[in-house]
Amino acid sequence: MFKRLFSYIIPLNIFKQKSVISQTLEVTWTNGKLVLDSNNTNYSYGSLQRILRKGLKTIGFEKIKTMDNILVLGVAGGSVIKTLVDEINYKGKITGVEIDKAVIEIANKYFQLNKIQNLEIIIDDAFEFVLKTKDKYDLIIIDVFQDTKMPNFLFETFFIDRICHLINPKSFILFNTMLLNEKQKQLNLNYENNFDSNKYVVTKIRKQEEYNELILVEKKS
Ligand SMILES: C[S@@+](CC[C@H](N)C(=O)[O-])C[C@H]1O[C@@H](n2cnc3c(N)ncnc32)[C@H](O)[C@@H]1O
Repeated sequence: MFKRLFSYIIPLNIFKQKSVISQTLEVTWTNGKLVLDSNNTNYSYGSLQRILRKGLKTIGFEKIKTMDNILVLGVAGGSVIKTLVDEINYKGKITGVEIDKAVIEIANKYFQLNKIQNLEIIIDDAFEFVLKTKDKYDLIIIDVFQDTKMPNFLFETFFIDRICHLINPKSFILFNTMLLNEKQKQLNLNYENNFDSNKYVVTKIRKQEEYNELILVEKKS
């Protein structure tokens, strides 16, 4: 309780470890909230959770409630999963794919991710998982970062085609990206061009003062 109150004055770090994927993983009380950060960016429960919540709002909470199967690529502390379960009251199945076992241990210890009944966590590379899975999804959330860097495969046509194959008709892809330079801006523009406008509706979502840009893709039929 004291740590939480004190964190309104200055952030209070309570856990830190080195990470091959994210350089460091840190759990910190900030403004009365526990957040997970990598070396240079917020991973879960801070600005990242806010921007993804905005993406989910754009799809519509009521629509999400009716879905059966949601895939989350990149779990970290699981803040988007908490939004789905606690705020939207989503009861369908959630599959979370995360490459870093250590981050899931932190998610379980500090954010009680293992208490969520309708969540299955798979430790795997998102790219490998997407190749293997036989399931279809109503929403795929792509939130894969290695600190501030996004793996190249996310922008490759092969991966995009595979993701499109895995979503049901009238379903969604919510892709979280970071715009830190011109090159990333261009990558996002190229990304959009992968989607035939006869079959998909692409919307971009940004929050002012933040570096993230969400790309929301809806499969028309
Ligand atoms: C921004 S965090 C995800 C935040 C999470 N979606 C949330 O709502 O709290 C990015 C995560 O992607 C994971 N990651 C990085 N490369 C990956 C890969 N190739 N496959 C799966 N996960 C990966 C990182 O370990 C990190 O936990």
